[in-house]
Amino acid sequence: MSRLVIVSNRVPVPDKGGIAPAGGLAVALKVALEEHGGIWMGWSGRSSGENEPEPLAQLHQGNITYALTDLTDTDVGEYYHGFANRVLWPICHYRLDLAEYGRKEMAGYFRVNRFFAHRLAPLVRPDDVIWVHDYHLIPLAAELRQMGLKNRIGFFLHIPWPPADVLFTMPVHEEIMRGLSHYDVVGFQTDHDLENFAGCLRREGIGDELGGGRFSAYGRVFKGGIYAIGIETAAFAEFAKKALTNKTVRKARESIEHRSLIIGVDRLDYSKGITQRIDAFERFILANPAQQGRVTYLQITPKSRSEVPEYEAMQRTVAEQAGRVNGALGAVDWVPIRYINRSVGRHILAGLYRLGKVGLVTPLRDGMNLVAKEYVAAQDPDDPGVLVLSRFAGAARDLRGALLVNPYDIEGTANAMARALSMPLEERKDRWKTMMDHLLEHDVSRWCRDFLNDLATSPDPSG
Ligand code: ADP
Ligand code: G6P
Repeated sequence: MSRLVIVSNRVPVPDKGGIAPAGGLAVALKVALEEHGGIWMGWSGRSSGENEPEPLAQLHQGNITYALTDLTDTDVGEYYHGFANRVLWPICHYRLDLAEYGRKEMAGYFRVNRFFAHRLAPLVRPDDVIWVHDYHLIPLAAELRQMGLKNRIGFFLHIPWPPADVLFTMPVHEEIMRGLSHYDVVGFQTDHDLENFAGCLRREGIGDELGGGRFSAYGRVFKGGIYAIGIETAAFAEFAKKALTNKTVRKARESIEHRSLIIGVDRLDYSKGITQRIDAFERFILANPAQQGRVTYLQITPKSRSEVPEYEAMQRTVAEQAGRVNGALGAVDWVPIRYINRSVGRHILAGLYRLGKVGLVTPLRDGMNLVAKEYVAAQDPDDPGVLVLSRFAGAARDLRGALLVNPYDIEGTANAMARALSMPLEERKDRWKTMMDHLLEHDVSRWCRDFLNDLATSPDPSG
């Protein structure tokens, strides 16, 4: 079997406290690579100042070799904070209003991709399969091909792909589209994303659909497929059951006492709809005065990308908003919103999900949203909670038993909270079972297998 080489910007090497960074990509890929073994190359998360980064640091853990590189301050600023997170991220999440184009940042993005290619190429053997992840590294295959690599190279986009009218506002959209054509398989989360991608190819006459999921563009033929990412469902369910004996989870349970717990877990990101969600919670309490003092809304939200101005501003907004609602609605013996700005260990998270009578997952736009899937997997089959889910999350395509909401509709979301909290046990069980059956069948191993099978059976690029 060929070796697997995964490349992503973020690599979840656990920190000294054993906590890996939050984020769907890191969590899912770790599970996939642990099964397979292989190399995981990416950014160390550190800067070398303005000095040329040292050679790759290699770290062996079990059957995974992590190969990590530092980046210079300029690289981090232009490639990561700049183009990836101030252009591609907002554009792919339909936020034209937040995209900040700058020629320096665009150049930095392509330069760092070339740098990654030069660091990666010496590690690669001719029969390795290379799997590149996410929007930071779209041009990587083109760079590797230019260096003469003839390996099979796949790409998976964890975030949404926007319609042509949105993508084409980006000055370098053509280079981005061309970059994708150098892969053998390009994977998206949902049919919607793949349709948008096909629409982009059609719109400017860049490419054609050849049937059977194959596309031709820029003189290359490649497959475009849908691979909805999953979680390690069975293990996570087991985890959640055991977590109830965990000290922190026990303390949380005791502190909630007789109240119902509503839980939200997201990186602090404008795509997650956190401010709209707090508004909806406030509306729910105001419309249902009998619930005062009877529910606790726990929002766990680690800071993310704080150097990007839109994220920094959001930290203030959300903290102020939670404080204002608590001030207005709280009582001497009741804090309506518990707002936590940290990552917590996965076992604790699993236990907290299980305590939640309602899981609130209401992004304005999301590629998939693994939190929604984790919440479902963590439930007690005999007394499951209810998932309130945004129709604009990729997960809404998979989780048919959720209460779907439009997160822009504050009143509708507030009503869904009320309905979730009063839902009869039989309906909760039916809805949960539909979702859990799906998640057991479509777990992260299957996602990985499906993608790698398609990559292995794609035409051999070495001819
Ligand atoms: P995104 O990838 O945009 O952050 P997802 O919902 O797809 O959103 O994935 C988030 C992942 O990060 C999940 O696996 C979730 O468990 C993890 N995560 C999110 N917030 C926390 C937190 N506060 N502590 C620990 N893990 C978290
Ligand atoms: C999303 C992206 C990932 C990213 C993660 C965390 O899941 O799809 O590529 O790693 O968010 O963001 P960060 O900027 O901290 O890597």
